[in-house]
Amino acid sequence: MSGPSLHKLTAHKSIHDGAVSEGRDLLEIVEKLHQKGNKKQAKIAADALVEHWETRTITHADAEEDGFYKSKLEENPEMELTLAMLKRDHALLRILIADIKQSLSEQNNVNQEVIDRFRAIYVLVQIHNRDEEQLLLTNDFS
Ligand SMILES: [Fe+2]
Ligand SMILES: [Fe+2]
Repeated sequence: MSGPSLHKLTAHKSIHDGAVSEGRDLLEIVEKLHQKGNKKQAKIAADALVEHWETRTITHADAEEDGFYKSKLEENPEMELTLAMLKRDHALLRILIADIKQSLSEQNNVNQEVIDRFRAIYVLVQIHNRDEEQLLLTNDFS
């Protein structure tokens, strides 16, 4: 989603919160299947979780960098460092997803390295979303 909705706190926060809660639910499934040693099903769930973060969060990050962040910078050039830090968060998420995809394709299995990176994504996304909401978005009614 892009355009005006990214500029509104309520709409933008609901995009964040929806992706995080679905990501948490899928991660729990991956972890349970991995713990049970159900390798085939764990791999299927892990592929679904990769797709979830790519379609819901990386696509969102791409749209922010293409439009929302640029307009924030035009409004206020002093936001440059803040925006660079938020872009680095996006870059870290892309790195973590690329690492997971490489590991899943090489091993064809979920291993602890993959679980660790999924957990890192889950925590990083929440910190990033909180900062973005606090630093770039103001209450819809203000
Ligand atoms: Fe973002
Ligand atoms: Fe966002």
